[in-house]
Amino acid sequence: LRHLLSLDGLPAPLLRQLLDQAELLRPHAHAGTGARSRHPGRTCCTLFFEPSTRTRSSFQLAATRLGMDVLNFDVATSSTKKGESALDTLKTIEAMGVDLFVIRHADDGAVAALAAGANPGTRVINAGDGRAAHPTQGLLDMLTLRQLKGDDFSALKVLVAGDVKHSRVARSDLHALRALGCGEIRVCGPANLLPGEAELAGCRVLHDFDEAVAGVDAVIMLRLQRERMEQGLVPSLEGYYRDFGLSPDRLARAAPDAIVMHPGPMNRGVEIDGGVADGPQSVILQQVANGVPVRMAAIDLLLGADSR
Ligand code: CP
Repeated sequence: LRHLLSLDGLPAPLLRQLLDQAELLRPHAHAGTGARSRHPGRTCCTLFFEPSTRTRSSFQLAATRLGMDVLNFDVATSSTKKGESALDTLKTIEAMGVDLFVIRHADDGAVAALAAGANPGTRVINAGDGRAAHPTQGLLDMLTLRQLKGDDFSALKVLVAGDVKHSRVARSDLHALRALGCGEIRVCGPANLLPGEAELAGCRVLHDFDEAVAGVDAVIMLRLQRERMEQGLVPSLEGYYRDFGLSPDRLARAAPDAIVMHPGPMNRGVEIDGGVADGPQSVILQQVANGVPVRMAAIDLLLGADSR
């Protein structure tokens, strides 16, 4: 694999290899220097044309833990403000000696287009493009599910709920869940916030949240992405919570040991109750923690795990 742009089309053995590698690297993800001999002398540049807290910070830590130099390129104070294009920006930084770009962009397909313009030896990881893909979020979600629910995805009922239409996380999660053979994938959201049928192939689509959540082993809640909505599509926030918010009463309908996931950032009181987000069934911070080893594994895969 030269670039990691999407989970679409990645086979289960490769996904499992990445999850296994993340588990191996996990002891070195949050402390210590045990993995710093893996890629010393290599340079990672984070190039984010959209804001981020989790993804950018965890890539920075992941690359540092692997012994890399990290350049956190600040788009807001860069010459992009004078009109320099994203590709000219990438080529300019690349000329300074960067091995790996981690790129986020607001437009679907923009990261793939930038990867196509990079030098043959340069690697690119998609840190989220528009509504299209967020592959490392999909991987960390699968790692979290596997840690808490076991390796047999065929035994699981997983609900992906909320603003699926605008969610790159949902798309990556659905690709991964299908590839790993998830027993039942349910999708629930308002009709105008669901994508077309083709993208929901293999999923059970429900519009009644009470019905959708009944008996599931995991609920993946999605952020209501108002910034990506056309005017007129934004629902009333009170009405949205009433019909599609994960309240304590709704969660009580899931399996007793069901886990609650959310990629963040959360809109508390809009798609998820604050008490549920902080409650005993929430694994949201475990997802965050898994972001570091998963991103270490993704970098390792692209740069060559045994190259150093
Ligand atoms: N989950 C996620 O992508 O969060 P950030 O936007 O904070 O990176």
